[in-house]
Amino acid sequence: DTGHFTYDPGYGSTASTKSAITYIDGDEGVLMYRGYPIEQLAQQSSFLEVAYLLLHGELPNKSQFSGFENDITHHTMMHESHKNFFQGFHHDAHPMAMLAASVASLSAFYHDDLNVDNPEDRKLAAIRLIAKMPTIAAACYRYSIGWPFRYPRNNLEYVTRFLHMMFEVPSEPLELSPTCAKALDLLFILHADHEQNASTSTVRLVGSTGANPYASIAAGITALWGPAHGGANEAVLKMLEEIGSPDKVENAVKRAKDKNDNFRLMGFGHRVYKNFDPRAKIIREMCHKVLAEMGVNDPLLDVAMKLEEAALKDDYFVERKLYPNVDFYSGIIYKALGIPTEMFTVMFAIARTAGWIAHWIEQHETPGSRIGRPRQLYVGAPKRDYASIDKR
Ligand code: SDX
Repeated sequence: DTGHFTYDPGYGSTASTKSAITYIDGDEGVLMYRGYPIEQLAQQSSFLEVAYLLLHGELPNKSQFSGFENDITHHTMMHESHKNFFQGFHHDAHPMAMLAASVASLSAFYHDDLNVDNPEDRKLAAIRLIAKMPTIAAACYRYSIGWPFRYPRNNLEYVTRFLHMMFEVPSEPLELSPTCAKALDLLFILHADHEQNASTSTVRLVGSTGANPYASIAAGITALWGPAHGGANEAVLKMLEEIGSPDKVENAVKRAKDKNDNFRLMGFGHRVYKNFDPRAKIIREMCHKVLAEMGVNDPLLDVAMKLEEAALKDDYFVERKLYPNVDFYSGIIYKALGIPTEMFTVMFAIARTAGWIAHWIEQHETPGSRIGRPRQLYVGAPKRDYASIDKR
């Protein structure tokens, strides 16, 4: 009666939540959004169409998609006084700190007229969050480098509009290769949702108390920041740079196996995938393609490939079923697109906002859904009587 139930979804682990959004089979390396295999969505869909699918449960027809895209396009601007919020940050604040605080502050701008029990209000909140995340994310980056913010341009599609807000400077037109926008759109698709991961479970738990969607998503952003979760993409780049060259990979693998050395192979392992993360396979192929198309020759890719090869044939990793996950190659692509390392997890947050808000809405729409209240196994002191301080 804690509002949580456990049942065995059939692959040997117990589940505490029912959801119709994303299906993962960790042993088979299967990932589906609303029944559509991630490989097909990666090849044929777009991030905005996937966001619609996650929210509504079905792929949109032409008029549904253009209505959705129109809604998103006309909610991309930040409230003008929201921009002042950034002035409070030190110039070298981590973009994830600025993002979490800025998204939470949306509650201050939109909370009054929002009723979480009203489906229309929930839909508007979803539109606002998906629309504004790129604008806020770009503002975090521009503030950190001291550049003026750029307004969202409604004549651009979602990802290109974001890249313009990130990189456009007043003095010259921004030349963007189509590869950039296509690669980023694909990375957003692959990061859009992933069942009950730590940050999504956080959003659901916070949302289950009736908290507004902006506060719930801000909680998800802070959970995602951890290096064991979304922060891993930033940590992978730092690890590859620390290793430095392919000839140092053997030593890195040795260190990762040494329990006395807290060096972990970032981008390896997963709580659920005990086989290849299907997203890592797609990103690995894309990595080679994007770098070739952009004429980028990044030595870190050689280090990454050597590291993957060494780990996949090492007993320690094979026995523990540690494979590259979604974060292993994504950072190399972000770097090739000109995204700075400290912005990698912000990219993850932009994409995962679609999944987070879909889960937040699903929970509100689930009949009988109650406040989450995980229990514990008590292992503390047995009952005892108070002793006054002079007797201690
Ligand atoms: C994401 O949940 C999701 O769906 C998350 C995510 C999403 O889309 O939302 O997929 C995104 O967060 C991907 C994961 C990104 N994190 C990293 O890449 C960080 C590096 N990986 C590890 O920290 C770790 O693998 C975790 C956090 C991902 C999983 O941690 P677990 O559950 O503790 O790992 P495990 O229980 O499967 O580990 C089993 C063994 C342990 O050793 P033993 O105690 O058996 O001797 O493998 C070891 C671990 O110490 N191990 C590693 C390792 N990961 C696990 N050893 C070296 N390097 C690693 N990366």
